[in-house]
Amino acid sequence: MTEPARRPSDSAVEMNELVLPVHTNALGTIFGGQVMAWIDVCAAMAAMRHARTQCVTASMDALDFIAPIRVGHLVNLRAMVNFVGRTSMEVGVRVESEDPLTGVRVHAASSYLTFVAIDPAGAPKAVPPLTLSTTTERLRYEEARARREQRLALVAERSRLHRAHHGGGEPGEEPGPS
Ligand SMILES: CC(C)(COP(=O)(O)OP(=O)(O)OC[C@H]1O[C@@H](n2cnc3c(N)ncnc32)[C@H](O)[C@@H]1OP(=O)(O)O)[C@@H](O)C(=O)NCCC(=O)NCCS
Repeated sequence: MTEPARRPSDSAVEMNELVLPVHTNALGTIFGGQVMAWIDVCAAMAAMRHARTQCVTASMDALDFIAPIRVGHLVNLRAMVNFVGRTSMEVGVRVESEDPLTGVRVHAASSYLTFVAIDPAGAPKAVPPLTLSTTTERLRYEEARARREQRLALVAERSRLHRAHHGGGEPGEEPGPS
């Protein structure tokens, strides 16, 4: 069955977490890997809301931690699909840290992730198109399209360099004859 086109807002996800001591390092600030895990989960939910099928993370773009997130603070994550290709989707995630005593919120991190929709056999599956109605949605879509081109060019270049240095194997495999 062909799925209908969806708006970016149809995929919107908001997730809140409380930073507990188990999430933090000796300085009382959060482990970067914990934020990455929450970003991945939040983005996966947005991708599944768009595709209405299982999705896997194909990549996460650069992640800059702009401000520390402290123990006892609330973490607010918001995710939405910005762009769709044939089987892949770019999801943007914004992370804010909130001091629960004052209500002051700080932008702590942002990232873009690519998810691929997967059919029951584990093969990439076409996703519904995106309906764009606002100027912001169109701008986000165009920016995401440009990022996708850069991302795929980097993947191709890494693969080319790896083959040139190690033969036919993929990155992570034992080096082949050079
Ligand atoms: C992601 C995955 C399904 C892509 O499989 P593939 O054989 O490369 O499939 P294709 O070449 O048909 O590409 C499928 C889509 O993924 C996109 N894609 C593939 N690799 C990508 C990457 N590194 N970054 C961004 N997009 C990527 C392609 O551009 C394509 O998008 P499109 O259909 O919108 O044009 C496969 O690499 C995989 O299963 N990876 C493991 C995923 C996983 O387990 N994630 C959990 C964390 S370990």
